[in-house]
Amino acid sequence: METVPARDDSAGPGYDPMRQFSQLAGDVRDPYPMLADLRETTPVLEVSLDVRTGQGPFDAKAPKLPALFTVFSHEYARQVLTDNVRFSSAGYAASMGQVMGRTVLEMDPPEHQRYRALVAGAFRARVLEQWNDTVIGATVNELISAFAADGEADLIRQLTFPFPVRVISRILGLPEADWPHFLRLSTQLIAIMRDWDGALAASRELRGYFAQIIADRRRNTRDDLVSQLIEAEVDGQRLTDEQIYPFLLLLLPAGAETTYRSSSNLLFGLLTHQDQLDAVRGNRGLLPQAIEEALRWEPPLLNVTRLATQDLELGGVPIPNGAFISVSLGAANRDPRRYPDPDAFDIFRDRGQHISFGDGPHMCLGMHLARLETRVLLNAVLDRLPGLRLNPAAQDTHIHGLVFRSPPDLPVLFDPGHR
Ligand code: HEM
Repeated sequence: METVPARDDSAGPGYDPMRQFSQLAGDVRDPYPMLADLRETTPVLEVSLDVRTGQGPFDAKAPKLPALFTVFSHEYARQVLTDNVRFSSAGYAASMGQVMGRTVLEMDPPEHQRYRALVAGAFRARVLEQWNDTVIGATVNELISAFAADGEADLIRQLTFPFPVRVISRILGLPEADWPHFLRLSTQLIAIMRDWDGALAASRELRGYFAQIIADRRRNTRDDLVSQLIEAEVDGQRLTDEQIYPFLLLLLPAGAETTYRSSSNLLFGLLTHQDQLDAVRGNRGLLPQAIEEALRWEPPLLNVTRLATQDLELGGVPIPNGAFISVSLGAANRDPRRYPDPDAFDIFRDRGQHISFGDGPHMCLGMHLARLETRVLLNAVLDRLPGLRLNPAAQDTHIHGLVFRSPPDLPVLFDPGHR
C-alpha cells in the first residue's frame, strides 16, 4: 500500500511542462559561430555580467555573481574540470544548492567521494542492465504503442520528453500516479534563475513529498534507490532524511532533462542526415557511435561552472580567488584542434571523447543510464516506426537554446500499423 496519494491535479489541465522547458532553452538557433569566434580569439574570457539590476534573464533575487570567466577551448575546459583542487564545485551552493540542498554536485573532496560512492553502484553500466527490459524497454514501448498506429507524431512531446522522467521515477520507486505532479515540481525547481520564489516553493513541496516516500520505505524496504539510500552509511552512520533529500532532488532534473534533450538531438541529427539514418537502421552496431557523435555535436547542456580556490592563471589570463568560471562544453566539443570539421554531424568520424558529460571527479554519474536509455529508445523507434522521416509540412524544425539545447518539436511521419 502506498502512503502517497495519487495527485496530478496541480499538473493539469492547463499546465504544459513542455512550454516551460522550451522557454528555458531560449530561442538562440545557432550559437556556434559566436562560440567559435570566442574560442579562437579569447579561449579564456573575462565576462562582464551584472545581475544586481535584475535586468536580463535573471530574477533580481538570484545571487549576485563575483568575477566571471568563460573557458571555450577543449584544452582549458579539461584542465578546469579535472582539477578540483584549484577549481571547486562549491559555486553550485548559491544556485542549485538553494533548492536541492547539499548535493554531490557542489561537494569537493574528500566529502564528494564519500557521498558519490553511496549511489555510484546503482549507476554502473553492469547494474543498469537489470533495468533494460523491465523498466527502460517497457517504458519506451508503452509510449510508442500510444501513437504507432497513427502514421504521424511529435517525437518530443509523445516520446523523448516523457520517457526519461518515467524511467527515473521507476528507478526511484515513485508511484505512477504521482509522475505528472512530480514532473511539474521538478520543472519549477530547475527554473531557479528565472523564478526564484517558485523554485523555493517547489523545493519545499518536493521535500514534503519525499518525506512520505522515505517514511514508507523505512517501514517497507523495496528494491529501489530510495530504499538503498535509507540503508546506506557514511562513516558508520545511516543517512538522515535531510541528507537523502538532495540526492532525490538532484536525480530527476539531472537525469530527465538532459537525457530528453540529448536523445531528441540525436533523432534530429539522424532525421536531417538521411544517409546516416539509413546506415544506423541497417546496422544497429553503429548506434553507440551515433549516440556519442550527437552528444558531441549538440550537447543538451552547454555550460558547467567552477569557483577558483586561489589566484591562478589559465591560458595567460589571471583569475582571482573566488571567481566563477563557466566552462563552455559546447565550444570545447567543436574545437577544431580536437575534431576536424567540427560543425559536421558525422557518426563515422574518428572518435575523440567529447566533454558533454563533463570530465574529472564530477563526470556525470548517470552517463551509462543516459546511453542505455538512448540506445533502447532508438532501437524501438527504428523497429516500430518504419519509413520514419521528418514531416515535410513542418517547415521550421530546428534545435535552439543557449543554456540547454534541443528541438522544441520533432514532427514525423512513418508507415502506420506496427503496434
Ligand atoms: C545525456 C544525458 C546527460 C548529460 C549530457 C549529463 C551531463 C552532466 C554533466 C556535464 C555533469 C557534470 C557537472 C559538473 O561537472 O559540474 C553531470 C553530473 C551529474 N549527472 Fe548527468 N548528464 C546526463 C544524464 C544523467 C542521468 C541520466 C543522471 C542520473 C539519473 C545524471 C546524474 C548526474 C549526477 C548525479 C551528477 C553529479 C555528479 C557529481 O557531482 O559527482 N545525469 N551530468
